[in-house]
Amino acid sequence: MDLGVAGKKFLIGGGSKGLGRAIGTILAEEGAQVLLMSRSAYGLDEAATAIGPAASWVAADIADPGAIATIAVAVDDNLGGLDGILVNAGGPPPGEVLDLTDEQWLGAYQTLIGGPVRLLRALTPRMTGGGAILFVTSTSVRQPVTGLDTSNVLRPGVAAMAKVLARELGPAIRVNSLAPGRFDTDRVRSLDEVRATAQGVTPEAVKAATSSQIPLGRYGDPVEFGRVGAFLLSPAASYLSGISVQADGAMVTAIP
Ligand SMILES: NC(=O)c1ccc[n+]([C@@H]2O[C@H](COP(=O)([O-])OP(=O)(O)OC[C@H]3O[C@@H](n4cnc5c(N)ncnc54)[C@H](OP(=O)(O)O)[C@@H]3O)[C@@H](O)[C@H]2O)c1
Repeated sequence: MDLGVAGKKFLIGGGSKGLGRAIGTILAEEGAQVLLMSRSAYGLDEAATAIGPAASWVAADIADPGAIATIAVAVDDNLGGLDGILVNAGGPPPGEVLDLTDEQWLGAYQTLIGGPVRLLRALTPRMTGGGAILFVTSTSVRQPVTGLDTSNVLRPGVAAMAKVLARELGPAIRVNSLAPGRFDTDRVRSLDEVRATAQGVTPEAVKAATSSQIPLGRYGDPVEFGRVGAFLLSPAASYLSGISVQADGAMVTAIP
C-alpha cells in the first residue's frame, strides 16, 4: 500500500527519540519532509542526521508559551507548508493524585493540553491544503496505569480534545489519537526504574512482570508504533477521523 505521503510536510513533536522519532523516520522513508521538534538540540541533530536530508529540526519546549512562535517560524522556513502534525512530547511525572504538587499538575497540563492547544491554534491555519493531526496519548485513556495519575487524569481529556477537534476541523483536517501500551523507549525504561525502586526489585524484573501481563508477551518496538502513526497521518487513512487507536499488544482488558 502506498501511504501517499511523498512530498508532504509534517511537524513531528517529540521527534528526537522514542515514538515520535519512529513515526518521523517512517514518514521520511516514504518520501515526506519532516521537521523534528523537541527540547534538546543535540538529540534533534543526531536524529535528523540519522533520518537524512528529508529531516530538519527545531528546538522548543512545547510547555513554554513563548516557544510557539519559534516553531511556527521553523515550519515556514524549513517546510514552507504543512500537511500533518504529530502532537507528542515527553510523558508527565509519575505519582498519585494527592501526592503530586500543584506545580507538577500544572506542568503536566502545559505539556499535554496547554502547549498542544497553542501549537494547533498557530499551525492549523497553515494547513491550507487540509491534512491530518495525530495526538500520542496512552492506554490510560481506557484504563488507569498504576502510579501515573497525571496521565490517568489528563490523557482522557486529550483523547476528548482529539474527538472534538475532528468535528471542528473537518472535513479538511482529520484528527485522531494513538494510545501506546508499553514500547521499549527511554520513557518506559525510566518508569520501570521508578517502579523497581519502589518495589525493591530490578528494572528487568519489572519489565518481565509487565510483559507477562501483555497477551503478545513483550514490549513493543517503537517501529511497530511508527508504522501505525505514519498510516494515521497519511492520506491512506482518508476516512479515519475522531478515533483513538490502541497499540498495546492487547494489554488493556477493558471492553469495548
Ligand atoms: N513508550 C510507551 O510505551 C508509552 C506508553 C504510554 C504513553 N507514552 C507517551 O508517549 C509519549 C512519547 O513517549 P516516548 O516513549 O517516545 O518518550 P521518550 O522516548 O522519552 O521521548 C520523548 C520525546 O519528547 C521530547 N520532549 C520531552 N519533553 C518535551 C517538551 N516539553 N517539549 C518538546 N519535546 C519534549 C523528547 O526530547 P527532549 O528531551 O529533547 O525534549 C523526546 O523527543 C510520551 O508522552 C509518553 O508519556 C509512551
